[in-house]
Amino acid sequence: MYKIIVMNSKHPKDSLTIITDLVLPSETNPIGNMFGGELLARMDRAASIAARRHCRRIVVTASVNHVAFNKMIPLGSVVTVEAKVSRAFNSSMEVFMDVWIEDRENGMRSKANEAIYTFVAVDEMGQTVQVPEIIPETAVEKERYDAALRRRQLSLVLAGKMAPKDASELKALFE
Ligand SMILES: CC(C)(COP(=O)(O)OP(=O)(O)OC[C@H]1O[C@@H](n2cnc3c(N)ncnc32)[C@H](O)[C@@H]1OP(=O)(O)O)[C@@H](O)C(=O)NCCC(=O)NCCS
Repeated sequence: MYKIIVMNSKHPKDSLTIITDLVLPSETNPIGNMFGGELLARMDRAASIAARRHCRRIVVTASVNHVAFNKMIPLGSVVTVEAKVSRAFNSSMEVFMDVWIEDRENGMRSKANEAIYTFVAVDEMGQTVQVPEIIPETAVEKERYDAALRRRQLSLVLAGKMAPKDASELKALFE
């Protein structure tokens, strides 16, 4: 199912990007928790670095496919965003992010959030360019790789760039 040796291919770990930073007062909402837009921006930065590490080209955000704000992140929290390319297509790359917060006293990490963005590699003129393929290694990476095709089709259908009748992976879910 997964190719063993492919020239110029990469693994998800090659793009791993970890950004850790504090939540400051100017980054909170009126009840003292991290403002959602601030987290979106931190995730966009981490994901764009991961996409760039995968393809070594200029990358632009094409779509925010999924964000779940599962847990409030209080003022003063230490927030870590971990981003990795989960699948590469032609010029586009899906980047999967896990967001963790760290307990001040015992240092234990807990998962606060998850997000999936799509980036596209372009040249200096903004024209799309081919990216290396990716070979998942761990069980989680394989699971995310497999599901990425379904998410790509959903994103393209919602953006009006793919006809629902052509979304074979989505249709298969209901068969
Ligand atoms: C993203 C962008 C490069 C796509 O250009 P385009 O002319 O629509 O190109 P295409 O239709 O050929 O799509 C290029 C790739 O993007 C993917 N793509 C485009 N829109 C997408 C979406 N909404 N969701 C997922 N993938 C998308 C396509 O599937 C294609 O992938 P592939 O090459 O791997 O098959 C272009 O729309 C752009 O430059 N947008 C602005 C990006 C930007 O400025 N981002 C920051 C926002 S402030």
